[in-house]
Amino acid sequence: MNAPSVAAVLAAGCPEAPPPQWLDTCRSTNEIALARLAAGAPHGTLVGAGEQTAGRGRHGRPWHSPAGLGLYASLVVRGTAPLETPTLLVAAAGLGVAEGAERASGTPCRVKWPNDVWCDESKLAGILVETRGFDPARPAFVVGFGVNVNHGRTDFPPDVAARATSLALRTGRRHELQAVLAAILQALLPRIGRAMRADRAAAALLERDYRARSLVLGRRVSLTVGGERVVGVVEDVSPSAGLALRTDSSAGVVRIRAEHVSEVRLEPTR
Ligand code: BTN
Repeated sequence: MNAPSVAAVLAAGCPEAPPPQWLDTCRSTNEIALARLAAGAPHGTLVGAGEQTAGRGRHGRPWHSPAGLGLYASLVVRGTAPLETPTLLVAAAGLGVAEGAERASGTPCRVKWPNDVWCDESKLAGILVETRGFDPARPAFVVGFGVNVNHGRTDFPPDVAARATSLALRTGRRHELQAVLAAILQALLPRIGRAMRADRAAAALLERDYRARSLVLGRRVSLTVGGERVVGVVEDVSPSAGLALRTDSSAGVVRIRAEHVSEVRLEPTR
């Protein structure tokens, strides 16, 4: 049986969404989706592109987006109830992208708190959730995701090459971008829908599934928090409460929230 198309998956998961928009090239799909959000676009509005000329990542970093190699897409997300914290949405998005990329390729994918999807020790995908002034009672965001699909070793910029991977590098074969996007949406739409409904049972499920797929839980990491480096072992990771880190210092176990962290590095165990 043929895999379902992106349009079919979107129509099934978000009946109120317009047909997906696919561009050959653009500056940033998040930029376009934010403009559509501001213009009142409904939940599930999807913008994807074959190339981005000004793709952006977290903390103002660029997201290198060469033509035809990666998946660059942004989804308008609207909720009907106040969201406890946007980190729930970020976690739901990361989990959905990891599950979908794994399903499409067969390569195991884990969530690297707070915003990444990694395969073993290398980054496969990043999530960028953005918004512009909205009514807190009716939360609205753009969820952007960039997935390295058909990149070879030399297709990454030198500063990220050492810790980046792609589905092609992991599996030894090329992958069809639209098929990967359809698989990701199949996992992502229900995860995001549940996060935006903000009910307790859905939040508990997210906490459990996120921990089960976490790369950093039980690992030694170093974090950059407000410009300072903190090193320790991750005792817990939670979409709502952040990391519980047993630090090397006399501080003992500290809670660290995603909003304050600009970098998370895996460290060798001692
Ligand atoms: C990160 O790891 O820092 C997040 C990267 C997010 C990149 C995606 S690609 C599609 C969407 N459009 C953008 O400009 N950024 C996101």
